[in-house]
Amino acid sequence: MSRIQLQGLTRRFGAVTAVDDIGLDVADGEFLVLLGPSGCGKSTLLRMIAGLLPPSEGRLWLDDTEITHLPPQRRDVAMVFQSYALYPHLSVARNIGFPLRTRKRPRAEIKAKVAEVAATLGLTDLLDRKPRELSGGQRQRVALGRALVRDPGAFLMDEPLSNLDAKLRAGTRAEIAGLHRRLRATTVYVTHDQVEAMTMATRIALLNEGRLEQLGTPSEVYDAPASVFAATFLGSPAMNVVDTTVRAVDGTLVAEAEGLRLSLGIDADIPDRPVRLGVRPEHLTLTSAGGQGIRAVVTAVENLGSEEVAHCDTGVSVRGPRPLGVVPGEAVTLSARPEHLHLFDHDSGRRLAWQAASVPQPV
Ligand SMILES: Nc1ncnc2c1ncn2[C@@H]1O[C@H](COP(=O)(O)OP(=O)(O)OP(=O)(O)O)[C@@H](O)[C@H]1O
Ligand SMILES: [Mg+2]
Repeated sequence: MSRIQLQGLTRRFGAVTAVDDIGLDVADGEFLVLLGPSGCGKSTLLRMIAGLLPPSEGRLWLDDTEITHLPPQRRDVAMVFQSYALYPHLSVARNIGFPLRTRKRPRAEIKAKVAEVAATLGLTDLLDRKPRELSGGQRQRVALGRALVRDPGAFLMDEPLSNLDAKLRAGTRAEIAGLHRRLRATTVYVTHDQVEAMTMATRIALLNEGRLEQLGTPSEVYDAPASVFAATFLGSPAMNVVDTTVRAVDGTLVAEAEGLRLSLGIDADIPDRPVRLGVRPEHLTLTSAGGQGIRAVVTAVENLGSEEVAHCDTGVSVRGPRPLGVVPGEAVTLSARPEHLHLFDHDSGRRLAWQAASVPQPV
């Protein structure tokens, strides 16, 4: 069991700053997901924690031991990669037991430990097979087993499910989450898949261009995104974000733009202010044309099975139970409750903490 602390961690490759001054405190037993778009620095950060890449600046601790300059084999962490990297000529049992053999553990101990790990991962019946005789999901479980067998203080995983098809991915995702619930081992897990992040993480660290954009539980990041970037990264379709002007009308704030007027439900008197207004597709409701809200024309309707998404000419989309009851070409008005409106600073894109009768501040 381990706590991982990062302080000012930075990694440059020539002129590129891949990881930029990241501080994180991963609590013992946490499942921290590093999430972000391709190239944002996730793997670079994980490789620094593993000891596979020296940081340009910053320091790292595992529990109370500074590990900044410790080689990978002396860090009590096990890494699982996207490609399983199993030994093709070795059986499942020997693949799983490999880290113990290199550590010269007694045979009986290796046998017992491999059996225990195989049982945990549902691999008991496959121990004599070679990797080529396994499905992708089974191979990934063997790779997990090889990490588990060492009883490391922490697991580091870099997109371990990205080579699996959708169905296997969902199944293995649930297995890893279940394993974590049972073992409570500190895990840092890299993905660019928002569903994996939302379903598996105790906390999400959202990265953008090497910097930490937001750190919070999945609900916190989804319900109160810290920036336009965070707001539009999580959620499908992405949160609608519209440039508006917020002004006081008869002592109440409203957001306005061409064809848009939404009440913020806040009593205040402030000078007009440009604000980027966000609302998730599932928080918009279709009302009869002509009322207050966002006026738009439906351009396409997507059938997702249980739900439908209507895309509109203004770039705004609405998501709800199927059927939504609209057709392309139809003029609609979309409304949203004030508590579902997110406000972002027009220039910085940071979330605004908006309190009644006060000037809004970025948070
Ligand atoms: N060895 C390297 N030499 C030069 N640049 C590198 C090296 N490794 C990574 N980079 C650069 O650092 C940045 C971050 O890369 P990294 O692999 O950490 O991204 P990532 O978030 O893991 O992306 P992906 O989701 O595509 O795996 C990228 O701009 C990448 O090109
Ligand atoms: Mg990567």
